[in-house]
Amino acid sequence: MNDRFIRACRRESVDCTPVWFMRQAGRYMPEYRALRARYSMLELCRTPELALAVTMQPVQALSIDAAILFADILLPLEPMGAPFEFATGEGPVIQKPVRSAADVAALRVFDPADGLGYVLETIRLLRIELADKVPLIGFAGAPFTLASYLVEGGKSTHFALTKRFMYSEPTAWNALMTTLTTVTLAYLRAQIAAGAQAVQVFDSWVGALGVEDYAQYVRPHMRRLFDGLRAEPVPTLHFGTGTATLLEAQRDAGGDVIGVDWREPIERAWARIGYDRAVQGNLDPVTLFAPWDIVRTRAAAILAGVDRRPGHVFNLGHGILPETPVDTVKRLADFVHEESAR
Ligand code: CP3
Repeated sequence: MNDRFIRACRRESVDCTPVWFMRQAGRYMPEYRALRARYSMLELCRTPELALAVTMQPVQALSIDAAILFADILLPLEPMGAPFEFATGEGPVIQKPVRSAADVAALRVFDPADGLGYVLETIRLLRIELADKVPLIGFAGAPFTLASYLVEGGKSTHFALTKRFMYSEPTAWNALMTTLTTVTLAYLRAQIAAGAQAVQVFDSWVGALGVEDYAQYVRPHMRRLFDGLRAEPVPTLHFGTGTATLLEAQRDAGGDVIGVDWREPIERAWARIGYDRAVQGNLDPVTLFAPWDIVRTRAAAILAGVDRRPGHVFNLGHGILPETPVDTVKRLADFVHEESAR
């Protein structure tokens, strides 16, 4: 089995640097668009055979060192009692946003085997299909990022409703974060029991917070989440964007691997995080629209920056964008392997 990814998560030596891409399955791939022409995003997620097929598309098309389960961080919201849809062009829309203590109290903690059994079934099928060719990453949204969707009702620029709720109703905020942490912990444990070989927690929008707000309103919950995963036999990855000022605080919350975006050079980020953790990153996904020479130079700079220190997983600093040229993604994965093996 190709275990470079797991070895790098554990800071063990590797033959070359492992690489995978956030959103490696998705609209930039013609195979994905062909399936999406027939099924909605939620139908793809809720039908294990289809979710399996989509997960496998990048594994077949690219030379990558991990598969990531095809699902979405928002899937737990429906069994919690907050249904949503993906509206074309607008992103996710939550039917009834959470704006009061009563709304928080109405949210349910559910058994993942009941509420998200289809995800667990997808994982079981994937482990058979992958046959240990590459490891399978499971994932969930972090409580702050999920709370932001619940409170805003969809995507946001300033997170004004979320922060207003956090500041003006601290007790209800704490209850909301506690419920989301409980749900996320149970969901990730169920994914691991079903066969996920690593789990990534996506705190995509936490970079909207200053360090002190992060420490006060978010970190205690992230600590409970990562403490709760410590006894599990798989590595944990802790990801965020816009987090250049939060890296130490996120490291303190937990995670074997800390995600780094492109706003901070990876070698500086790693020195701040400390070499007792692994790091993942950090090419700007928009670089993939540049001529190949620039992509290659920037990828080589990341590899040179980490200087073969064990514990680097190559990735983008955020997900692949829909219009990205597939050929550049393919070349990048090959380049990372060749350049780091030299
Ligand atoms: O990485 C992978 O290949 C696995 C699948 C995956 C998806 N979403 C599929 C998806 C993963 C890991 C996610 C995580 C996710 N979902 C995050 C965290 C990562 C990040 O990007 O910060 C977030 C914030 C979401 C919420 C979400 N899902 C949004 C905002 C959107 C709409 C935006 C858009 O691109 O249209 C989605 C939909 C979504 N999730 C798509 C995919 C492939 C596009 C669906 C489509 O129209 O086909």
